[in-house]
Amino acid sequence: MGGLSEETLNYQHLAMIYDAIMGDHEGVMRYSKMLQDVLVGKRILDLACGTGDLTVTLNNLGYLMTGLDLSEQMLEVAKTKTEPGKIRFLCGNMINLNLGEVFDSVVCANDSVNYCSSLEQIANLFESVNRHLPIGGIFVFDYHQKARLAEFIEPFDEEGVVGGVGYWWHIVSEPPMLRHTVTIYGSGYPVVETHDQYIFELKELQTLLEEHGFRCEMIDPTNYDDLYLDEKWMFKAQKERNV
Ligand SMILES: C[S@@+](CC[C@H](N)C(=O)[O-])C[C@H]1O[C@@H](n2cnc3c(N)ncnc32)[C@H](O)[C@@H]1O
Repeated sequence: MGGLSEETLNYQHLAMIYDAIMGDHEGVMRYSKMLQDVLVGKRILDLACGTGDLTVTLNNLGYLMTGLDLSEQMLEVAKTKTEPGKIRFLCGNMINLNLGEVFDSVVCANDSVNYCSSLEQIANLFESVNRHLPIGGIFVFDYHQKARLAEFIEPFDEEGVVGGVGYWWHIVSEPPMLRHTVTIYGSGYPVVETHDQYIFELKELQTLLEEHGFRCEMIDPTNYDDLYLDEKWMFKAQKERNV
């Protein structure tokens, strides 16, 4: 790692290499197959949509998509994957969201809920989602399992160069969180993004869902080619009441 570096907002710089490192076409296909089984309706809000691979795939399957993310840079990449006007992309914070409209179903994919740093933030997120669904609407999300904290007691390091941009990805377990330190060597000084993903107990999430008007079921990964088996819990929450 270079001596000088700049601390930046999450996904501000990672956005330019995110797809090259994390892109997983086959994974997106398996995820969207699962969603086709569990979502209701056609109007879908994709929270923390990132660079939009899942959003675009669902749109191609006939869903009317709105993708929302905190990172303008991730959204800029997402917008290049579709024709103008086909998908609405919005910049915003899913934890405290009020778009003033409802969707048939809401998705939040690929451990994005793990970015909530407290149970209070998760509660606010569930309240936000409740606000955007009708009774009977479905909220689907996945969440790093507790076991992942043990997996990264020994730090994980990956280095590489993609499209002329170098990176070093360091993951270490600092319970209750996984800390990802991503150093990106672009044209200027290296930039460092620190991504903290918190892992709370399964029971705590289930209780919060119930308290925020949802009936919760766990999605069985074995029905979907072992999607995230032993890695992430997958939740299907159906809205029962307003909160
Ligand atoms: C691991 S990426 C997943 C992106 C996408 N869902 C996917 O499946 O590839 C996490 C995303 O969550 C977004 N994010 C984190 N906290 C957020 C928040 N409070 N509101 C909206 N987006 C958020 C980040 O900007 C990033 O794009």
